[in-house]
Order: sequence, then C-alpha cells, then structure tokens
Amino acid sequence: MGAVRARRHLISVDDLPDEDLDALVRRGAEFAAGGAERDRPLREHVVGILFRRTSTRTRTAFSAGALRLGAQVISYGPDDLQENTGESVEDTARVLSGMLDVLVARTAASEAELRVFASQQRMSVVNAMSEAEHPTQALADLTTLLGHFGRIEGLRVLYVGEGNNTASALSLALSRFPDTELHLRTPEGYGLHPRYLEQAALSAKDRGGHVEQRHDMTALPSVDVIYTTRWQTTGTTKADPDWRTAFAPFQADEALLATSPEAVFLHDLPAHRGEEVTAAVLDGPRSLAFEQAQNKYHSARAVLEWCTGGPR
Ligand code: CP
Repeated sequence: MGAVRARRHLISVDDLPDEDLDALVRRGAEFAAGGAERDRPLREHVVGILFRRTSTRTRTAFSAGALRLGAQVISYGPDDLQENTGESVEDTARVLSGMLDVLVARTAASEAELRVFASQQRMSVVNAMSEAEHPTQALADLTTLLGHFGRIEGLRVLYVGEGNNTASALSLALSRFPDTELHLRTPEGYGLHPRYLEQAALSAKDRGGHVEQRHDMTALPSVDVIYTTRWQTTGTTKADPDWRTAFAPFQADEALLATSPEAVFLHDLPAHRGEEVTAAVLDGPRSLAFEQAQNKYHSARAVLEWCTGGPR
C-alpha cells in the first residue's frame, strides 16, 4: 500500500468544504494549462476503477489520469466482482480497502454502496456517477468555466433539459461560488430533485447568488453559459412513452443561443445531435463541449492527487 496521508472521499459535492472545491477546480485548470506537473506522485499507489455502467470519458479520464500520475490501475467491469454472486458490499469493501488506495466507481444505483466502501476509511472512494449525482462532471464543468472566463464568481448559467445527476452536481457546485446564478429550465416531471434544488438555493443565497427552476422556455434570462445534457441519462429509462413531446421545447438550438448572444455552450456528452442539441450548436464556434470532455482528464488528476493527500 502507498504512503497515504489522508483518506479523502468524493461521493457528493456536499462532501467538499468550499476551499477544497475551489482548490480542485483550480488544480484541474492548472493541469489543463499544462503546468504544475509533479513527478509521478501516485507511483506508490494502486487505483481501482469499477464501472457498472457504460462510460467513455469518466472511465478513461480516471484510468489515464492515474497512469499518468504514476499509479498502477486495476479495472473492474460490471460482471467482475463476487458481489454478482452474492458477496456483500461490506465484505467487498473490507477486502478492496486492504489492497487499493483509491476506488473510482460508477454504480448502478444510489450512493449508499459508495458510502459503505468509504466507511472503512482505508481507501479513498470517488463517485464516478451515481443515480443522483455526478460530482466529477461538475468539477470538469467548473474547470472549463474557469479556463474560459478566468473566474467562476458571478457567472450566470442557463441549464436546459432533464434535472439529472449532472444537473444536481452542477447545482451544488456552482452555488458554492459567490454571486452565481443558475436558471434551470426542465420539462414538467423531469426537474431537479427538491433536495438538490433546496440545497443549491440555500448555498447560493448565502453567497449572494440565485438558483431557480422553471418548467417552460419563456422569459429566458441573459446568461454567460448555456448548458444541456442528453435526454436519456446513462442507465435510465423513462416510464412515459411520450416523453419526447415534453422534452422537445427544451432543445438547444440556434434560436436558444440567440437569446444570449455572448454565451458559450456546454454539454457533458455523450450527445445526440438532432435530439437535445443541434449539430450547429454542438459543433459551432461557441461550443466548449469537447474542451469540457478533455477537462474530465485534467480534473480526474486533480481528484486523484487530492484523494492521496497531494495538492488541493
Ligand atoms: N459525461 C460523462 O460522464 O461521460 P461518460 O458517461 O462517457 O463517462
């Protein structure tokens, strides 16, 4: 086992004190700018990468990030652990925590399993997307905004589409920076979970900011950032067979971008051109979506460093 100085977990944005959240975003931006590399700081560490759901960006970002930082990586797919044959989460956590320094996990369900993994306090645990929250996506999103605007404070964001795990993490993270605005426009019945909406609204209010949610596309505010996400979040299905009718008005198209002529466009990817976003917007000059995807790698390195006691 590596000489780990502290066991830090990132299961929810809520787990991060303000100064750690700020430092992780800044460290990701430092990596993105090509600076602040240290010499293989994780060379004594072993990182487990457990993905029970499909992933292109997050899994690769953490695998490549761990390797670049000098760690050894063990990768587990959805059918690999004995949990599939009935071994308990608790026993799995006891065993893995005796061998791994960090476990990066995309689970199929709630964060409860991640909390069990984290409860043993011998192995850091990173939520690589759960049903409710996608905290490492929010770090990449804010890293992208910091790199583009040079600040997060005071930014105004319009989020359009389903209030999914990307939206919940973004809400919790953005609202922790002073004077930010988050305007959520979500289809009726597909809004942000009230727990996240209330938490984000309180955080924003305490810091001079504002969070609101509406279920229509009228009276859109002037913003700095327009953000959307795909309509079929990884690993989920919608009960209503006619759900596309509810989502249709929320497409990110050129008319939407025209409502804030200076705004940049973000998308967490994967994208379905012609569905939640038009090709003209996603591939247009105002889109930062692929820079945002690249920043998943930079912020993954920042998270791995932080977990193993390195620079915040
Ligand atoms: N945005 C995101 O989490 O992408 P993947 O599902 O490909 O990891």
